[in-house]
Amino acid sequence: MRILTGIQPSGQLHIGNYFGAIKPAVDLQSRGDCTYFIADYHSMTSLTEAEARRKNTIDVALDWLACGLDPKKNVLFRQSDVPEVCELMWMLGTLTPMGLLERAHSYKDKIAKGISPNFGLFAYPVLMAADILLYDSNVVPVGRDQKQHVEMTRDIAIKFNHTYGETLVVPEPEIRDETAVVPGLDGQKMSKSYGNTLEIFGEEKATRKKIMGIVMDSRTPAEPKPDAGKNIAIQLLKLVAPAEIAGDHENRLRAGGLGYGDLKKALFEHYWDFFAPYRAKRAELAANPDYVHDVLRDGAARARGVASDVLRRARRASGLA
Ligand code: ADP
Ligand code: TRP
Repeated sequence: MRILTGIQPSGQLHIGNYFGAIKPAVDLQSRGDCTYFIADYHSMTSLTEAEARRKNTIDVALDWLACGLDPKKNVLFRQSDVPEVCELMWMLGTLTPMGLLERAHSYKDKIAKGISPNFGLFAYPVLMAADILLYDSNVVPVGRDQKQHVEMTRDIAIKFNHTYGETLVVPEPEIRDETAVVPGLDGQKMSKSYGNTLEIFGEEKATRKKIMGIVMDSRTPAEPKPDAGKNIAIQLLKLVAPAEIAGDHENRLRAGGLGYGDLKKALFEHYWDFFAPYRAKRAELAANPDYVHDVLRDGAARARGVASDVLRRARRASGLA
């Protein structure tokens, strides 16, 4: 079984990305052949600073590796290192109805937010389909927001096979549970675009300040709080602290006697300890810039091996060869 997923290098990764995307991907390493890539072509639809893209790409690779991705067992590569994906995108684009793209939620959401659309944003799902189909992927683990894109990929693959004969593997999305939505510091979904994130590899002082700044209500420490389970700090503590410690804090908050300041202090300490081994690993990897470049180069070579087979099949089937 071939498992594939991508992540855009559009900024620093946060603990929502960790619990929602990185950890599940790292856990999947034992289930099949995993291919993970950094979607730098996709990031061009929203980011136009060249230096930021270059830096984010390396940062995201370091984050994945520090969080436990084993580059010997899996393939980690930069999307644009295998530009063949653009050729497959063209082939797929000629079979993709305009209406299908016009119905894409993420496109419609961006337009609704006032983003002026360019062709790249409109064609985004076709490039994503090419990413998935170029590697004969069977399973694509993604967040709920990406489910429609994987369904479009299936439609496009079926259309290709119908038009030119059985050529492409039709993939299945694997959607993570709704419970995998990590709340941000303001209680909305944690997201780069809401400015409510806790970075995986944030700087100590700044992160402590962010956590201590979480806004709570004005009830005194002694007051019982029957809604303790909904408290943001409790929800985050459940992710980073052992279950009995998080449970104990929740009970003390519910019963009364635990102040918000102490709760936030505990959250900071557990957050800091939880990521400590990853932080150490990341520092070690970052000290040797050649290492991450070597991993990406080796990943691209291995990815290209599969990609060229699939592309050859698609070219032959469609009469380009
Ligand atoms: P952001 O919303 O910060 O821009 P992305 O859209 O780049 O994040 O998401 C990258 C990956 O991380 C996706 O697989 C997405 O489903 C996952 N992810 C992002 N935010 C969260 C969250 N708050 N909880 C769980 N998973 C998340
Ligand atoms: N669109 C995905 C996101 O923003 C990233 C992505 C690009 C992707 N190509 C992919 C995910 C292929 C899975 C498979 O999160």
